Amino acid sequence: MNTPKRYTITAALPYTNGPIHIGHLAGVYVPADIYARYLRLTGKDVAYICGSDEHGVAIPMRAKKEGVSPQDIIDKYHTIIKKSFADFGISFDNYSRTSSKIHHETASDFFTKMYNDGEFVEEVTAQLYDAEANQFLADRFVIGTCPKCGFEESYGDQCENCGTSHNATDLINPKSAITGNVPTVKETKHWFLPLDKHEDFLRKWILEGHKNDWKPNVYGQVKSWVEDGLRPRAVTRDLDWGIPVPVEGAEGKVLYVWFDAPIGYISSTKEWAAREGKNWEDYWKKDDTKLVHFIGKDNIVFHCIIFPSMLKAHGDYILPDNVPANEFLNLEGNKLSTSKNWAVWLHEYLEDFPNQQDVLRYTLTANAPESKDNDFTWKDFQTKNNSELVAIFGNFINRVVVLTNKYYTGQVPLAGNFSEVDEDVLAAVKEFPNVIGKSIERYRFREASQELMNLARLGNKYLADEEPWKVIKLDEERVKTIMYVALQITAALAVVSEPFLPFTSTKLKGILNLDENLSWEDVTEKDVLLPAEHQINKGELLFSKIEDKTIDAQLEKLQATKLANEQENKVVEPQKETVEFDDFTKLDIRIGTILEAEKVAKTKKLLKLKVDVGIDTRTIVSGIAESFAPKDIIGQQVSVLVNLAPRKIRGVESQGMILMTDTPDGKLAFVEPEKAVKNGQAVS
Ligand code: MF3
Ligand code: ZN
Repeated sequence: MNTPKRYTITAALPYTNGPIHIGHLAGVYVPADIYARYLRLTGKDVAYICGSDEHGVAIPMRAKKEGVSPQDIIDKYHTIIKKSFADFGISFDNYSRTSSKIHHETASDFFTKMYNDGEFVEEVTAQLYDAEANQFLADRFVIGTCPKCGFEESYGDQCENCGTSHNATDLINPKSAITGNVPTVKETKHWFLPLDKHEDFLRKWILEGHKNDWKPNVYGQVKSWVEDGLRPRAVTRDLDWGIPVPVEGAEGKVLYVWFDAPIGYISSTKEWAAREGKNWEDYWKKDDTKLVHFIGKDNIVFHCIIFPSMLKAHGDYILPDNVPANEFLNLEGNKLSTSKNWAVWLHEYLEDFPNQQDVLRYTLTANAPESKDNDFTWKDFQTKNNSELVAIFGNFINRVVVLTNKYYTGQVPLAGNFSEVDEDVLAAVKEFPNVIGKSIERYRFREASQELMNLARLGNKYLADEEPWKVIKLDEERVKTIMYVALQITAALAVVSEPFLPFTSTKLKGILNLDENLSWEDVTEKDVLLPAEHQINKGELLFSKIEDKTIDAQLEKLQATKLANEQENKVVEPQKETVEFDDFTKLDIRIGTILEAEKVAKTKKLLKLKVDVGIDTRTIVSGIAESFAPKDIIGQQVSVLVNLAPRKIRGVESQGMILMTDTPDGKLAFVEPEKAVKNGQAVS
């Protein structure tokens, strides 16, 4: 498109059925934030829009499980999510919610206009029904095999495995997610969006029009769906949570959440415009507005096929210029999962790493899942912090600020004649805004973040080559020039780091006492960012080293989650064959006390114990060494099977067996009496 007059940037509305984690941040909100901040710095007119998606089916499901109302759930998570975004410097111009009045009205009106224009097909069809739960089954209420990829746990509207969107009745072997029953069918009336009618438009607009500027992963998915043939999709549901269908004869029906949610971008823009004295329609209806949707890959079909078809059918709206969807971020090799608690939650991160938002923003950007799924590891997080943010960026700034304060009491010195190296460095610095900007405009945020780091590298190298701390003893005048040049680089970093590291940028501007209104172009166009005699402040550390033990603590936390999940999923073994009472009484189990314990040489698991079992004191070899240190179990009471035939284990005769059970942390525990009892007491 020609140079846009204004930008409408949307970030997928998060569902309010749980807090948000690093996957959300990496996939959607940080890249969109970098884009929005960059555009603002280049003086563009930007509306960066988001809000909570509060009609998702998972919300009433979660409410039911917790015994609270859906309203309680959305209020709770809307507040948590909104705060997390603010804490991480996600600079939305507006953060709304789809339960708001303005959204209900906007979505209702949108539907009504399409309805009046005859854009829907009204049809009574047989839908899946759970007679026991007395409910129609669609979306997350039904699980079955995906007709496209064969994944056995596909939802009714979308398969999480292959991303395909389908109708619930397409599922093979459907099962109710409420009762587990095989659904019956029952007739009900719904309104369908005839996607087949929009196929030609979609082909022209995306397959022909955006072949070269959309990301290959996005383009490829769209192409495959369109080529498979599009079919009508129901945009209404028989549910009691959502926006009522605003037509007669639709009592008890609501809009499909994926019909109303993207309209949330529009209602959020309205809310913002009303507050800021702007005209919302400029941002949604004018051809010189560039609309960009930031989303994760599971949202592609909704933003590239369904919502554009709605916008087109409605008639008044512009279409997205791009939908730069990201792939998924994994965590330590496993898929992020809210229900399995396999995540780094933003609010928990901030408890463990206070004021270190930029470290996470940087790591997630440098490692963003832009063209394929990617893995977040704590080790990599540590490396990015220690070897890049601390060792390159922070180190450079720190040296310049310390030396300026030391040599010139914080006043920018007057430069003498520039050497060729100085000239080259100053010229190179001016190139960075363009280079970084180009990457950002092509949605290559990883690349952009690496260019930012290259600017800091340039500064570091300049200092290392020029060695002002040595030259100061020989040529004080030369050092003034070196420090002058180095200071210009720090100022450039303060400006161009802002989209990526907003907190650091603010801090750095404070240290440098820099004009906060310096723009992206100023770095290229101005010869001087910090003039001679400008007074800077004392330094403060921008980044600090993250120690191994901090990383280990995070890894342990994840390990505990893994074990808890394993325990939760552990199948209780089926009951063994029946035994007669007489068989049971043959087992002689007594309480005993451990008197001595030592490791059996050259084994990992075995302890040799002396146990007083009341009858006598005997030797027992037990496989508990990985759970207990010998010195910790002296005096411990245990249950012992005393009449087990003795046998030799690693050359030691064991005269009995200690009864044990497993604990959630993967260790063993003794089966012991609640109160101390006399040794030899029978367990029966
Ligand atoms: N709530 C959806 C998700 O988290 C995204 C909705 S995006 C919108 O997957 F366009 F519908 F708003
Ligand atoms: Zn599938």
